[in-house]
Amino acid sequence: MQITLKTGSPATLKTACLAIGLAEGTKLTGIAAALNKNGGLSKLIKRGDFEGKFGQLMVVYDLEGANAERVLLFGLGKKDKIETQCLRKALIKATQFVAETGAADAVYAIGDLATKSLNEYWLARHAAEAINFALYRYETTFSKKPPTRKLKKVALLQSDTKNVGAASSRRDFKMGLDHGNAVAAGVALARELANLPGNICTPTYLANQAKALAKKYPKMSVKILEEADMKKLGMGSLLSVSRGSRQPAKLIAMEWQGGKQGDKPHAIVGKGLTFDTGGISLKPGPGMDEMKFDMCGSASVFGTMTAVAEIGLAMNVVGVIPSSENMPDGDASKPGDIVTTMKGLTVEVLNTDAEGRLILCDALTYTERTYKPKSVIDIATLTGAVVIALGSHAIGMLGNDDKMAEQLAELGTLTGDRVWRLPLWDDYQEQLKSNFADMANIGGREAGTITAAAFLSRFTEDMRWIHLDIAGTAYKTGAEKGALGRPVSLLTQYLIEQA
Ligand code: BES
Ligand code: MN
Ligand code: ZN
Repeated sequence: MQITLKTGSPATLKTACLAIGLAEGTKLTGIAAALNKNGGLSKLIKRGDFEGKFGQLMVVYDLEGANAERVLLFGLGKKDKIETQCLRKALIKATQFVAETGAADAVYAIGDLATKSLNEYWLARHAAEAINFALYRYETTFSKKPPTRKLKKVALLQSDTKNVGAASSRRDFKMGLDHGNAVAAGVALARELANLPGNICTPTYLANQAKALAKKYPKMSVKILEEADMKKLGMGSLLSVSRGSRQPAKLIAMEWQGGKQGDKPHAIVGKGLTFDTGGISLKPGPGMDEMKFDMCGSASVFGTMTAVAEIGLAMNVVGVIPSSENMPDGDASKPGDIVTTMKGLTVEVLNTDAEGRLILCDALTYTERTYKPKSVIDIATLTGAVVIALGSHAIGMLGNDDKMAEQLAELGTLTGDRVWRLPLWDDYQEQLKSNFADMANIGGREAGTITAAAFLSRFTEDMRWIHLDIAGTAYKTGAEKGALGRPVSLLTQYLIEQA
């Protein structure tokens, strides 16, 4: 949903729901103070009904001194502790509540919460992203659609009260909202593609999705390489993964031409494994359905390209997606098979379940030769080991460029897509030694996330390169199983900073 901007006084504002974020134990200032002319809010707080504790929610109907049908107070915790994570969580919780009420529109008043670390830009950006995140519902493959929501319009309030008066902060707030809307559209697309089952979301489906984006945005164009093209280019590694599948592999390249002709692009490369059975090195049965999410890296590329196009970034960006299934079959790759990559290096496939690196290495070589990118980030659900190392909160980051890594770490904190760097010392390369080829595709039990990146590093030596392992962060398992659209916000922000 495109969230709009509203200006004016919170007290006279006519809306079905005015949602206000309040910090714990602070005086009512700004928007809250403007609503408290008749003392309605302070009475509530004095009676101990609402303290502003993180996650607290309270709805007040017909609040004296407010023109809104309902006022929803949502707690943000201690003011000096408010940061990205709790702001977003509180907004998501508030929005889930609003969506269950009968309110047809809602206005969020968060504009006067700005602190040094969360300025007006980031307040509006997070609000647009978090509200939209909460409103996304997966509906596509149910026979009956759920009843449509009453909530049709959402706006952020740009109050005329203190703290948001300066023209520059008003401009920042608007820009944060615009960028947030763009990122939210990308996140929604990424989640939808990733949530689709493997029998719908095939490599061909993803290729068609890319064509649809090119149709929608005039500055976007798309190239699809078929298996015959890959064969000509010598992509023996990528092709070895799709051998066992009835679905033809695709190599998708989406080119955003927002900058000057001939300007080298920044590249994002996403793993698009639409279903990973493990191949002949078959995965165990329980939980295997979640391997439909093995294309979340590519989903984040689709999402980021969408956000870039929605913003209209004045730079060139290319999104590259190697897409394939990994299936067992009479013709599938077998453990011990040796394949030749596009770069010419040979690989002994000791485990057919380590297929992500096999499709990414050829995509990375293709990206380097075709685009000579200013920088390249690959995004992949690459290893179970990263889930063990970092759990579901931090993305595993490795690469060969310290400046890029530092910047991405910083932007990870700002956007909420937090990353944590792991080392990529030469010592790890020894684990990839093979007796029969230039390298093996696995490095043993130790440091699985690092040896996967070490494998990729052999194909990225001549580029500024960062690898993001999103196996633990791209989707939720359990009762709330579903894709999260990470790290579209981080990737978009990285590109904004380069523009
Ligand atoms: N797609 C998986 C990684 C994965 C695991 C993603 C769990 C999400 C959740 C990848 O293709 C894979 O199977 N990796 C193997 C590598 C191993 C054989 C060296 C793994 O992590 O077990
Ligand atoms: Mn695998
Ligand atoms: Zn995989």
